[in-house]
Amino acid sequence: MFAAQYAEFGGPHVLHVTDAAAPQPLQDQIRVRVRAAGISPADAALRSGRTPMSARLALPHIPGVDAAGTIDAIGPGVTGVAVGEDVFGSVDLARLGGASAEFAVLRSWAGKPPGLPWEQAGAAGTGVETATRALDLLGLRPGMTLLVDGAAGGVGSIAVQLAVARGARVIGTARPANHDFLRELGAEPVTYGPGLPARVTAADRALDVAGAGSLPELISLTGDPSAVLTLADFTAATHGVRLTMGELAGEPHGRHGLRTAAELFTQGRFRVPVEATFALSDIVAAHTAIESGGPRRGKLVLTL
Ligand SMILES: NC(=O)c1ccc[n+]([C@@H]2O[C@H](COP(=O)([O-])OP(=O)(O)OC[C@H]3O[C@@H](n4cnc5c(N)ncnc54)[C@H](OP(=O)(O)O)[C@@H]3O)[C@@H](O)[C@H]2O)c1
Repeated sequence: MFAAQYAEFGGPHVLHVTDAAAPQPLQDQIRVRVRAAGISPADAALRSGRTPMSARLALPHIPGVDAAGTIDAIGPGVTGVAVGEDVFGSVDLARLGGASAEFAVLRSWAGKPPGLPWEQAGAAGTGVETATRALDLLGLRPGMTLLVDGAAGGVGSIAVQLAVARGARVIGTARPANHDFLRELGAEPVTYGPGLPARVTAADRALDVAGAGSLPELISLTGDPSAVLTLADFTAATHGVRLTMGELAGEPHGRHGLRTAAELFTQGRFRVPVEATFALSDIVAAHTAIESGGPRRGKLVLTL
């Protein structure tokens, strides 16, 4: 099969599309012919070699953990799906990659609704899982107010919609140019940065997606460190705040959210905001874009 992969750590230029052995689905896994594969900031961090997790990779490595495609092989123990069905989801996250390729093995998936565009489906997997896990851990209930710090990005834009679907009032932070985008998703926008408590009266729960150092202000807003959860701030413990890392840290997962997201999509209540799509052959440009730190409106996606 063909795959985008890197044989050394470094900048986006270490990525090349070359031949690779097609993966085989193991117990409880399926293999898909990939139509679209999401890209996340973590993929670029792993590729750079700057994160300790990079040491877990065997090179050459195929980046990307989210994909959508058509099932072409089914592993032992899998029931309820058949070859030829369209699905979306994620690889076994312990592999930290494998999606940016002609074929990918998925560990978690849901049926792709026929109207869900491939690029949205390919980008959905870990964003939906992560947002679902976060809302579960926060105990978000109907009528609560949730503040999402970093609401316009890949995970934040999904968390906003899933929280609205759970009956919450959602306040989201973003740069001013993204405020209309947040309104479209169902959130009340505010600008991020110092002084947040003066711009938001109160929140019952707060989700820090950005990891930009706002935890003391989020605690002040909710009045309780246990009402705050972060996905990206590694100083969390010093504030008494929980940092969730999901399955990689042996925590419960939010994979049930994939089916919920598919149902909400068919009801017209959910979409995966996609900022840009790239052909697999343009993966260097895609990785350059994901680490640019520029304004985000959802996910970046590779199409095959
Ligand atoms: N722990 C986990 O299980 C888990 C899972 C998935 C991802 N993550 C982590 O979560 C983080 C976000 O991932 P992502 O895919 O959503 O990234 P992303 O698409 O790059 O989005 C990042 C968002 O952060 C916002 N932002 C930038 N500076 C900010 C500030 N000072 N205050 C508040 N928001 C700010 C940006 O908003 P504007 O565009 O409006 O400027 C952007 O929307 C990454 O660090 C990722 O590694 C963790």
